[in-house]
Amino acid sequence: MIDLANEAMTIKLDYDLPEYPKMDPQYRRAPRRESHLTQADKLLAIKNALRYIHPDHHAQMAKEFAQELEEHGRIYGYRFRPEGKLYGKPIDEYKGKCIEGKAIQVMIDNNLDFDVALYPYELVTYGETGQVCQNWMQYRLIKKYLEELTDEQTLVVMSGHPLGLFHSHKMAPRVIISNGLMVGTFDDQENFNRAAALGVANYGQMTAGGWMYIGPQGIVHGTFNTLLNAGRLKLGIPNDKDLAGKLFISAGLGGMSGAQGKAAEIAGAASIIAEVDDSRIETRYTQGWVSHRTASLEEAVKIATDHQKEGKPCAVAYHGNIVDLLEYLYEKNVHVDLMSDQTSCHVPYDGGYCPQGLTFEQRTEMLDKDPEGFRKLVDKTLQHHYEMICKFHERGTYFFDYGNSFLKAVYDTGIKSICKNGENDLDGFIFPSYVEDILGPCLFDFGYGPFRWCCLSRNPEDLHKTDMAAAEYIKAHNRRYQDYDNYVWVRDAEKNKLVVGTQCRILYQDAMGRMNLALKFNEMVRNGEIGPVILGRDHHDTGGTDAPFRETSNIKDGSNIMAEMATQCYAGNAARGMSYIALHNGGGTGIGRAINGGFGMVLDGSERVDTILKMAMPWDTMIGVSRRSWARNENAMTTVAEYNKMYAGQDHITMPYLADDQIVADALKSVEG
Ligand SMILES: NC(=O)c1ccc[n+]([C@@H]2O[C@H](COP(=O)([O-])OP(=O)(O)OC[C@H]3O[C@@H](n4cnc5c(N)ncnc54)[C@H](O)[C@@H]3O)[C@@H](O)[C@H]2O)c1
Repeated sequence: MIDLANEAMTIKLDYDLPEYPKMDPQYRRAPRRESHLTQADKLLAIKNALRYIHPDHHAQMAKEFAQELEEHGRIYGYRFRPEGKLYGKPIDEYKGKCIEGKAIQVMIDNNLDFDVALYPYELVTYGETGQVCQNWMQYRLIKKYLEELTDEQTLVVMSGHPLGLFHSHKMAPRVIISNGLMVGTFDDQENFNRAAALGVANYGQMTAGGWMYIGPQGIVHGTFNTLLNAGRLKLGIPNDKDLAGKLFISAGLGGMSGAQGKAAEIAGAASIIAEVDDSRIETRYTQGWVSHRTASLEEAVKIATDHQKEGKPCAVAYHGNIVDLLEYLYEKNVHVDLMSDQTSCHVPYDGGYCPQGLTFEQRTEMLDKDPEGFRKLVDKTLQHHYEMICKFHERGTYFFDYGNSFLKAVYDTGIKSICKNGENDLDGFIFPSYVEDILGPCLFDFGYGPFRWCCLSRNPEDLHKTDMAAAEYIKAHNRRYQDYDNYVWVRDAEKNKLVVGTQCRILYQDAMGRMNLALKFNEMVRNGEIGPVILGRDHHDTGGTDAPFRETSNIKDGSNIMAEMATQCYAGNAARGMSYIALHNGGGTGIGRAINGGFGMVLDGSERVDTILKMAMPWDTMIGVSRRSWARNENAMTTVAEYNKMYAGQDHITMPYLADDQIVADALKSVEG
């Protein structure tokens, strides 16, 4: 049996073990992860990891894995990490038998770039725990498979593990990914932590395990849209004006949250973002994503309010705890217009949320030495944080949950007053999620969502050309203020220096915009104007994610607890031939709270790709709009009605008849007596 696997496999890790790589101390390391493994579990975890290793090396590697499990709570297989910097190289530098095999390697390496990834050595791209795959053995093996993959095969990846290559056809996806999908009864954080420690579950977040992360730029556009529309809806700002003279306060300058300062600046606001980890401030400051940095509350507030008075934008990074900042602002009677939070509250007890009174270094130490004590401190701070928000709310501040499960985390500490129904979270919370109030009705219901593309040549000139083509297209199709916002965004994108890692762009577009731009870019590839491009989107989209506390929080027909839309979206994208597709548990709101999916589509200039784009792009968006329309969302219904006309004879979407509330109430009354 021992040699059975070795002889039967032609695609496997090299026989010789790689040299143990040097770890550069300047890069952040993930804290120890929780798992609560029994002795039998620990043996199983080590045995599981050894499945990638030739038995001749088991004695040595079993010790290394045991050590990693003890120290980090996970087996990362550090020895298998390639030495030095990883980054998304120009596509031609990768080996492969089809363009998709090479393109996907670019995307994986981009997610692990030191400049991009949150904890690059632990394969964490963003969101505290969102990993490309579980360990470096998987990374190496996936790459070997991608080098061998032909255009008539499909690679199956389950929670980072490459299960194998299977024969398919040219119009089929080249890779199918799933991450962290669990059977209902076990679908909770504790079981997930155990499964992850055993090496059988990966937390893909969204685009981390979906290999479509494009740095915090990915979220800048969404945050810009959210802030601007919050200003329009809640502060009475006209559609053609920005947030000049308004103050925005939030927390977090990490992987995604790092976008907040930049987005606020682009939207014209003065802002202060609290961050406990100075190294993350350093990253955002050197990238130019925050304009000022200080550890003094007085200075932070002075810089921001001075800018505010002059109507000038700024992004001040305050090095310290958000709750300290809120206390200071309250005490000094500073009026805050908009407030949010983007700490990693989907995993508050795993290091995502830093308690008041602890420095970042102390939180890491306490997390390791006293996780129970840490949990108590997190709860205490979350409760106080909530109290402070309520006080600001009374003074007229508009607070919104920015999709990090902050409100849910407060509720989980035992605060029932945060629930709309005062009892449980089934009817949502007293403060809105940004999707409920803003992004849902203003964007998702129309189909506007985070379309994105990466120029696989890594050539900035290619990105420039695609930006210009997109701006030209939107200018010619300017129907509503959303289109104008998107035009301004892409027109100024290069000037705003948003690229970190590969040459990528995010641009909110609706179904037709996405399809037409995709076809235009494919034509540009065909004409040799640009090199190959990969399209994708954030999973956080109109149809990509079922998450009642976030993406589907403005779906009010009771179906917000169902996960069928994201699943159908993924299946439909597979059926129509997207180059790769991903379906995950968790996403930005945590295990058991979301099912989310995404795709990557390689544009090689071919007619085959045109055919796929015409089928798959409208589907990928309209699935979400259809669902929102069926839930009686007004803007979604208008969009579906237009679509049914436009696609008559080809696509057809069921629409709801609207019932009169009085008729329904009278009917119920008549039978209840
Ligand atoms: N709205 C969206 O579209 C969207 C998209 C992606 C992620 N998210 C969610 O946003 C959250 C943040 O994502 P991320 O990738 O930036 O995670 P991250 O872990 O990289 O960053 C969070 C940052 O918050 C800081 N922090 C924690 N507690 C703090 C405190 N009390 N005071 C000040 N700073 C504190 C951390 O040091 C860290 O740098 C996650 O929950 C994620 O799921 C939302």
